[in-house]
Amino acid sequence: MPQRTFSILKPDAVRAGNSAAILAEIAKAGFKIVAIKKQSISKTQAEGFYYVHKERSFFGELTTFMSSGPIILLVLEKDNAIADLRKLMGATNPANAEEGTIRKMFAASISENAIHGSDAEETAAFEIGYWFAGYELL
Ligand code: CMP
Repeated sequence: MPQRTFSILKPDAVRAGNSAAILAEIAKAGFKIVAIKKQSISKTQAEGFYYVHKERSFFGELTTFMSSGPIILLVLEKDNAIADLRKLMGATNPANAEEGTIRKMFAASISENAIHGSDAEETAAFEIGYWFAGYELL
């Protein structure tokens, strides 16, 4: 059964000109792009998106970074999309990411790690609905 997940190409990846190369890796892995848009987000929007992390020490740094430049918001679909995207992304800290993963290839640090992907079905549903209206999902 096809499953949907949500992803963000983060400001570091977009700033470095790596968006197209990362999208190519995503396509190569068999994901269909259901929705895609490039935009800058406010710190308040980033805080709402990452509210589950609001008590974490890095919350301020994370939301300042995510609102520091344009990002690419994606809804992706394939069988086992959530787990498969997390595998393709690699470990949160690129220092621990396996060869061939997006974070190994394109990320510099745990705070500037190129890509976000939903970690569970409920998270994916919240994250897709946070950024996309139903009519944008094609
Ligand atoms: P992401 O998958 O977008 O979800 C939460 C983000 O918090 C995570 O990726 C990291 O980029 C970031 N993060 C996690 N741990 C740390 C940390 N110790 N310092 C800074 N950022 C972090």
